This record gives sequence, structure tokens and C-alpha cells, in this order.
Amino acid sequence: MSQTRKAYRAAILHSIADPAEVGIEASYEYFEDGLLVVENGRISALGHASELLASLPAEVPVNHYPDALITPGFIDTHIHLPQTGMVGAYGEQLLDWLNTYTFPCESQFADRAHADEVADVFIKELLRNGTTTALVFGSVHPQSVDAFFSAAQKLDLRMIAGKVMMDRNAPDYLVDTAESGYQDSKALIERWHGKGRLHYAVTPRFAPTSTPQQLTLAGQLLKEYPDLYMQTHISENLQEIEWVKELFPERKGYLDVYDHYQLLGERSVFAHGVHLCDDECARLAQTGSAVAFCPTSNFFLGSGLFNLPMAEKHKLNVGLGTDIGAGTSFSLLNTLNEAYKVMQLQGARLSPFKSLYLATLGGARALRLEERIGTLHPGTDADFLVLDYKATPLLEYRLQQAKSIAETLFVLMTLGDDRTVLQTYAAGQQVHQR
Ligand code: GUN
Ligand code: ZN
Repeated sequence: MSQTRKAYRAAILHSIADPAEVGIEASYEYFEDGLLVVENGRISALGHASELLASLPAEVPVNHYPDALITPGFIDTHIHLPQTGMVGAYGEQLLDWLNTYTFPCESQFADRAHADEVADVFIKELLRNGTTTALVFGSVHPQSVDAFFSAAQKLDLRMIAGKVMMDRNAPDYLVDTAESGYQDSKALIERWHGKGRLHYAVTPRFAPTSTPQQLTLAGQLLKEYPDLYMQTHISENLQEIEWVKELFPERKGYLDVYDHYQLLGERSVFAHGVHLCDDECARLAQTGSAVAFCPTSNFFLGSGLFNLPMAEKHKLNVGLGTDIGAGTSFSLLNTLNEAYKVMQLQGARLSPFKSLYLATLGGARALRLEERIGTLHPGTDADFLVLDYKATPLLEYRLQQAKSIAETLFVLMTLGDDRTVLQTYAAGQQVHQR
């Protein structure tokens, strides 16, 4: 057994609670000279190197990183696989952006070879950026999800994905039907859900592109299978919200459309939520639903500023989303840099420890996976990162001036990106080396 045991010595930091609930000091654990012990894909011990090394058998290899920080792997709660090739599409807001750029790009996924090629690029990009778990939109084509899960399975990654359901208000070449969307999703669930570390998410794109019949069948799938996820978009853009009112005049508002079709729940993640009102946040929280906060996307499409303090007031679960390809970076460090500015523009703060929480344990809670990922507690999956304090000359110089782990962490989030991620581990295996 000890042959599979490995130890990693470095500064080690993880989030153990939401700073909004317990205060900043009680929200994290930090070991200035720490040791993380990994065995059979799981973390078996975490503590001070001085204490743990004494009892570690001499044959267990120890990787020592004197200039690095070990953290849990990052969790991206909203991202689109088939938009990898269209990041940085110029000039439009949401609805025109979808019609002009997104739908044509996603249509290429009818071709399985194309889907395989992009899935490979996409997963490499996630791991290069330190993202070990993501909640992923495929395209309308089931083969996009087959391609993604096949690639993720090879690396034993914990990933969640689903085929987009969209049976109206999109080009003919990109729609399914209520019935085919249901059947194709069902076949994917049977093939992939619960296989290894993979999970399926029922994925109606957003209310405007699904008929009431399709939304009904999406709700039915959630009842037919235990522990399925549901992902969609909500209240991202003001024109979008007006359109939903026109399409569903009988409903009280945007969230009420999803509520009516029984799509809210503990494994439901709603992307954006920029323009949610107080009552909608309360209802999301009451049903255990989560919101994915996507700052780079909300800036890029001019959608607006997410009101994190309002979500906190309602104890609503919030994760971070890159929302590639409306988002502009795969890096959750980069995403946190922008999240900080979203708060600044609203006269609020985002502490580095709240940021760490959002990128790790907060994301895990949004996905109901906090028993498995998001922290470095012994017994959880060994999904972790080695972040390099010397990744760039400026980072190295700036961190020499840092006087606390709070300052170090905040600078990592301000200057950091893919270059900061020296190594990524999933289930105890190294899956990226810079
Ligand atoms: N709303 C519906 N589809 C999409 C999408 O692909 N990206 C974003 N950002 N919003 C959406
Ligand atoms: Zn999205």
C-alpha cells in the first residue's frame, strides 16, 4: 500500500467554511510548512510538516516545493465546451452574440471528430488553469458530451456535463425536439451518469429556446434519476428578461418559469443571475439551488454586475463560472481578479479568503460535492494544485514584499493566471505540469 502513498511538502492553504458565515479567520486553514499525504487517489493526511514527517515511513517519496502554495483544485461551475473556439467574439450583447457567433460555432459539433478534437483542447486548458472539476454545457449534439466524458474518463476527472436541450428560437440546424432532447439525454444518462467520477446534468439552454413541452420533459428526467444535475441560464441580460416575459406571460417572472417546470433543487445551477430580485434569491436559496457568478462574461457581454452581497444575505450557494466563450479566460485566478472589480464597482469588497472559498469549497457546495472535493480534508479526492510563487518575474518580486498569507493570496489572484499553475493533480495523479 505504501508504494501508492506520496507526500507533498509546501505552504498549504484551504478554505474550510464560508467567510460570510464564520468570519475570515475561521474560514481557512494554513500551514506555512505543510505536508499533504496522498494514498490511492485520496488525501490521507494534512498537517504541519514538522509533525507529520516524523511518522511518515522513510520509503514514502516526498516532493518538496519551497516556493509554492498547495491548494485544492479549482471548481468552475459554468462553462461551455463548444465555445472554446470562439472566445473573444467582437461587439455584441447576449442575444445577438448567440445568433451571430455562438450558434454557428456550436453547429460544428455535429461532427464527432471535431468534438473529440475540441474536448481534448478543452480538458488540457482546464487542467493548465488548475480547474479539476467543471459543470459543462455541451452542444445540442449528444456526441459533444460523449467526446467530453470519454476524454475526462481517461484521466479519472470529476466532471459534470450535459447535452443542451433547445427546441425553438434557434436555427433549424441546431435544434432538437422535445422528444429527441429527452431521449438523447436519457441515453447519455444511462451511459455516463455515476460512471467513475462523472455526473450528468440536464441542460435546457435557457427558457427562450425550450418549449413548455421540453421544459416539462427536463423536469421529468430529474424525477426519473437520482442525483442528476440541472444547469441553465437565468437573468443575464435585460433584453433576454423582456423576451422571457413575452414568451411566458402567464408566469410571475424568469425564475418562476423554471420553478413551474420543477427545475429548481439542490443540484440545480443557474448561470449569471445578474438581474435577480430579492424574492428570486430567496426562492433559489429555499430550494437549495445555486448560482454561478461569471464576472469575465458579465463584463465582456456588458450584462451587468452580480450582487454577491444579496446572495449572501439569502445564504444562497454561489460558485464561480468562467462561462467560456462569453467569458474571456479559463483561469479562475483571472476570474477572481475580475470578481474583485465587480464588488468594487458596487462599493463592496471581496476578501481573498472569500475568493478562495468561491473557487473551491463554495463551488463544491454549489455542486453538493463538498464531501469529495473543494477542501484538502483527509478522506476527500486528491484533486489539488501546486501554485508557483515565482511564475513570473513580477509575481516573484511582488510576493517578496508580501507580509501575510492574505496578501500573498490576494496578489496571486490579481497577477495570477495559467502560468501560476505549476502542477495539477486529479485523484492523486499528476495531470498537468507547466
Ligand atoms: N444564454 C443562453 N445561451 C447562452 C450562452 O451560450 N452563453 C451565455 N453567456 N448566455 C447564454
Ligand atoms: Zn453560459
